[in-house]
Formats: sequence, C-alpha cells, structure tokens
Amino acid sequence: MNLPDYSLGADEVPLHEACPIDDGTREALKEEIRMLLRVRDAVLIAHYYVDGDLQDLADETGGFVSDSLEMARFGRDHDAPNIIVAGVRFMGETARILSPEKRVFMPTLESECSLDIGCPPDVFKAFCEEHPERTVVVYANTSVEVKALSDWVVTSSCALEIVEMLDARGEKILWAPDKHLGKYIHTQTGADMVLWSGACVVHEEFKAKGLRGLKALHPEAGVLVHPESPAAVIDIADAVGSTSAILKAARELPHEIFIVGTDRGLFHKLRQQNPGKRFIEAPTAGDGATCRSCAHCPWMAMNELGVLAETLRDEKRLKANEILVDPEVGRRAMLPLTRMLDFQAAR
Ligand code: 13P
Ligand code: SF4
Repeated sequence: MNLPDYSLGADEVPLHEACPIDDGTREALKEEIRMLLRVRDAVLIAHYYVDGDLQDLADETGGFVSDSLEMARFGRDHDAPNIIVAGVRFMGETARILSPEKRVFMPTLESECSLDIGCPPDVFKAFCEEHPERTVVVYANTSVEVKALSDWVVTSSCALEIVEMLDARGEKILWAPDKHLGKYIHTQTGADMVLWSGACVVHEEFKAKGLRGLKALHPEAGVLVHPESPAAVIDIADAVGSTSAILKAARELPHEIFIVGTDRGLFHKLRQQNPGKRFIEAPTAGDGATCRSCAHCPWMAMNELGVLAETLRDEKRLKANEILVDPEVGRRAMLPLTRMLDFQAAR
C-alpha cells in the first residue's frame, strides 16, 4: 500500500514561526504587555489554542491558561476588576455574564467561532419552540442570547456527564449547536436528543482516511481527538475529550508519540508538559492537497501579541474591545452557566 508521508516537518514547527516578528520585538512586546496588565489592573486569561507567547504571559503574570470551562470558573472567582480574555468572543461573553460587576476586554472583538455564527438566536428560538417538551442544552460556543434561551450550558469537559444525568432523570434533550459533539454524546449515553446542525470549521476538517494512513506510519502512536471532530475520526482515537482531557491523556497514557486531532495551538502546552514525547498533527487534507494540516482556528489566531499590546496601550482601542452584554439577557444566561459550574463543582 502506498501511504502518503505525513511524518516530516510540520510536527516540529514552533507555533510562533507563523508570526512574522523577530525575537527582539517579541520579547519587547511581552515586556510591554506585562507592564500594561499591571497599569490596567487586569488579569489575562488565555485559551490553549492561542499563541504560545500569550499562554506563557498568562501563566507568568498570575493569570490562567485553560479549557473553556476552567476559563469561565477562573474569571468568575478572580478578584481583578478587569479581565482580558485571549480566546474567542463567547469566552469573553461568558466571563462578563458570570461577573457583571467586572469589565471584560479582548485583544479584538472580531474573534468569532463558527459554532456561534452558525446558531442565530432567532432561528434557534424557533427550533426550541418546535420542541417545547425538551430540555435545552447548549454548548458554551454560543452567543449570550442563545445561552439565555437554554436550560443548561455545557463545555466539552462536562457535556457527557450532564447529558447522562439529564437522561437518567428521563429528560429528552434539544442539543445545539455542534452536531459532531452531539452525535458523540448520543452514542455514549443513548440519550434521546434532537441535534442542531452546526460544526467547528477546524475540527470538521480532520479526515479519517488520512488519520489511518498516518497511524499506519506510526503504529506505536496514541491518537488523541477533540469530540468536535467527525465520528469516523473519533472512532480511531485512543482518547476523546476536551482540550484539558487531551492534555491529561498525553501525560498519563504510556505512548511516546501522539497523533493529535485538535487545533495546533494545544501543541504548545502538550510539548511544555511532555518534553520527552513527540506530537504530530492529525491530517486535515486529502491526498491531493498541498498542506497536511490546517488545524488552526482563524479566530483564535487573531489573538496576536502585537494586537493585545496595541489594545492595552490605547485607552480608546481598549474601550472599543470591551465585551458588553445586555443586563437582562445576561441575567437569563447566567442561570444555565451557573448550573454548569455548580454541577462541575459538585463532581
Ligand atoms: P475546550 O472546551 O475543550 O477548551 O474547547 C473549546 C473550543 O473552542 C474547541 O474548539
Ligand atoms: Fe469555534 Fe472551532 Fe475555533 Fe473552537 S476551534 S473557537 S469551536 S471555530
């Protein structure tokens, strides 16, 4: 069998190479951001998919790097009056909903999410009205308006357990917006679920055929996959889970090599936490394509060092990138979000 050679190169490329700034400029920007965070009395919370330098800055300055669930919890519990969220917009909105008394800013408000974009609140409301008997469970990757229409918000760290619990109570579920995650949870729990048909533009691109080919080249490798991926990709995985679950599996499984089906931003922490292990990107491309993996969220990538420095530097620009939430809608959205955090805390 003639297998494409996916094994060279890309798995060793440091993430910041994509960013056209030299080391001196990068260090100067990092120093400036450290200073500006102090001046602005702000804490930096970063998702695992953003630029590695931003993740390090969050770690170094008393902020936090995590999955979307822990970002929400940390933002709510931290006492800084100003929160800077490096991630995508729903993460900033979640921080604001949970802490209406704090100010929440992002490097840029343009950082969207395809799941959020693909679930407009008015169309979603009509969908809910078609199924009034169902418990509405929405993924955190949604707008504040969609969260306000829900009974439960979940992230990929707790979705399975929450649906299991609702199913055990005999509740039928309306799930939105990620169809792949919804299908995965349905397969695992057998719960009665109707699914909205959204997808993540990054994870939907992973290809089972390419992954099998790569696995044949590295039969000793463990396969780690985020559940926003298609079912055929999930079926090949040794471990399936949220970004933090993938990190845990990489630390705990015995393999020395891993093929990883999630955004390449996670490779920064994977390599930091496992210096002796090798991580290879799962392929997103077919045999004829020129790139083997395009798994980097275009919106997460907007969180650049230079963009954050400019936003923190300039008062007007900072204000323009503040997350504002309608107080009444925010109050309604806080309920299902708090339910999720309480459920998680009680586990
Ligand atoms: P996690 O909740 O696993 O961090 O994932 C968030 C996300 O946007 C995945 O694409
Ligand atoms: Fe949304 Fe996918 Fe980007 Fe995560 S990786 S923020 S789900 S588009």
